[in-house]
Amino acid sequence: MPDARLYPTPVQWEQRHTAFVLPAVGLYLDGAARSPRLQHLQAAAHALIDAEATPGWLPYAEWLDSIEATRTLAAQVLFNDDVDGLAMVPSAAHGLAVAAHNLPPQRGDAVLVLDGQFPSNLLVWQQRCVDVGAQVVAAQPRAGESLTDAVLRTIADTPRLAIATLSHCDWHDGRLLHLDAIADAVHARGAALVLDLSQSLGVLPMDLARWRPDFVVSVGYKWLMGTMGLSWLWASPRWRDSGIPLEHHWVARDPGPDWAFPLEAMPSYRHGARRFDAGGIADPLRLAMTHGGLAQLHAWQPARIAASLGEITGALDAALDACGMSDWKTIGHAPHITGLRVPVDRLEALIVAFSAHGIACSPRPWGVRLAPMVGVRAEQIVQVVKIAADA
Ligand SMILES: Cc1ncc(COP(=O)(O)O)c(C=O)c1O
Repeated sequence: MPDARLYPTPVQWEQRHTAFVLPAVGLYLDGAARSPRLQHLQAAAHALIDAEATPGWLPYAEWLDSIEATRTLAAQVLFNDDVDGLAMVPSAAHGLAVAAHNLPPQRGDAVLVLDGQFPSNLLVWQQRCVDVGAQVVAAQPRAGESLTDAVLRTIADTPRLAIATLSHCDWHDGRLLHLDAIADAVHARGAALVLDLSQSLGVLPMDLARWRPDFVVSVGYKWLMGTMGLSWLWASPRWRDSGIPLEHHWVARDPGPDWAFPLEAMPSYRHGARRFDAGGIADPLRLAMTHGGLAQLHAWQPARIAASLGEITGALDAALDACGMSDWKTIGHAPHITGLRVPVDRLEALIVAFSAHGIACSPRPWGVRLAPMVGVRAEQIVQVVKIAADA
């Protein structure tokens, strides 16, 4: 019988409006920053912390099983059952550092990023480029140009493209990148493809077979409804067989039943991408929260979540049109993230008004990022537009 503290039962779709721990008043539109905690996972976390006070509460075999159960569920829900392709790492930055150290650009090469990309997917490449004498090239959309066209143009204009390291949507305002076309263009140039899907996995579909990335990373605490400190790194067959991890941790090795780490030789890596498993991920609390978030995702299904959140951001766009604020909309945004483009002289007042109404979102120099979680209702988002119009 599995321990209910490790594997709490997900809630039904019909209960989604009350599924999260949130203040009684206000509206949470900051899922792109972090998922609010699921109520039942909060309760499980408390029970687990209490249980940890009893020595031996989690037998070693069960502890190891919980690592594999979490990996298997992630593979099932998100990675086409490719359990051997998955490693657990503490952050997106860690996973991207694994990619950067295994795919080092050569002197004179170029690494393509999107202008304004999240720093975990920028800094490590900047450092690698300094180390080897390569350069980071940023795709910058021209006026009226889509992100995808900007990336495709930059790929065509960059003579020594070695690596493209991108996402599925812009983390600032949700504008989509069409990864089918981009992946084709990257592969046609013989370059490597790295994807940070921290802002899309769990909502937008991923096509590993079509995109053929070298590495994929995603945090677990946003759209996967898990926790900080446990992120996913998927490695293509080439790298899971030959890649070098950043650190050499016991969870990544197979010491056999005697847990033997002899002086003469290191035990071999565990199978597949497990060689990249990092220290800290075996924390039972992180594993339970991660497993619980994935189980919830499995129950709710990413496609249903995308459709539901698409209705919410669609209602937002329609309400902006109805209020004569069409130029506040973000064109080409993902279903779950968008940006409200606020005239600069009204931004401060809008942020004050949102705060007074308990609307949680992320301010940006050009407006605010809005990222509803499952459970937000269309009428609530229409109300947000009214508050914005009056601010
Ligand atoms: C696109 C993207 N990648 C990664 C992260 C987090 O990265 P890390 O786990 O390295 O802090 C975020 C956080 O907002 C993000 O938006």
